[in-house]
Amino acid sequence: QENKEILQPLYFFFSHSNRPSVKYYTLEDIRVHNMSNDTWLIIHDKVYDITSFLEEHPGGEEVLLEQAGADASESFEDVGHSTDAREMLEQYFIGDLRFEKKKKLNPYISSLFCSSWSIWLISAVAAVVVGVGYRYFIFEHRSS
Ligand code: HEM
Repeated sequence: QENKEILQPLYFFFSHSNRPSVKYYTLEDIRVHNMSNDTWLIIHDKVYDITSFLEEHPGGEEVLLEQAGADASESFEDVGHSTDAREMLEQYFIGDLRFEKKKKLNPYISSLFCSSWSIWLISAVAAVVVGVGYRYFIFEHRSS
């Protein structure tokens, strides 16, 4: 997962030359397709529009609707679907999952950088430290 996150921009860049263009969807894009007349699923980082498959699913449509708009990889694997089932997936493929930057800067640290008063405070403290340090340095040299 981590690797894919790093490599995706590269795939994206090279996809124009050697792959038919693939659409990328974010979790947010997919989440809204969670109704019985509009059903998307994520299985192993690929996105499927299975709206037309709901009624055909041998395991029933309820189990699919439970996962609608979300990642169904785990439940798909738990059932131990056949190779046939895996091949069926292809016809519903609509795109890849886009990895988003999940790790945001700690809000405390980012607020420290963003708010202007703290920048002034940090500068003031730094100035005092430098000033005191300089006096101390001069004092030391005079006495020796
Ligand atoms: C679009 C994705 C899916 C496809 C194409 C698909 C396809 C199939 C197929 C062809 C079967 C018949 C058995 C087999 O060939 O393995 C089956 C059975 C089953 N599927 Fe799915 N499936 C999908 C997603 C899911 C998900 C997300 C669940 C989640 C719980 C699920 C639960 C089941 C269950 C419980 C059975 C067993 C039914 C039984 O044995 O009576 N399937 N599926």
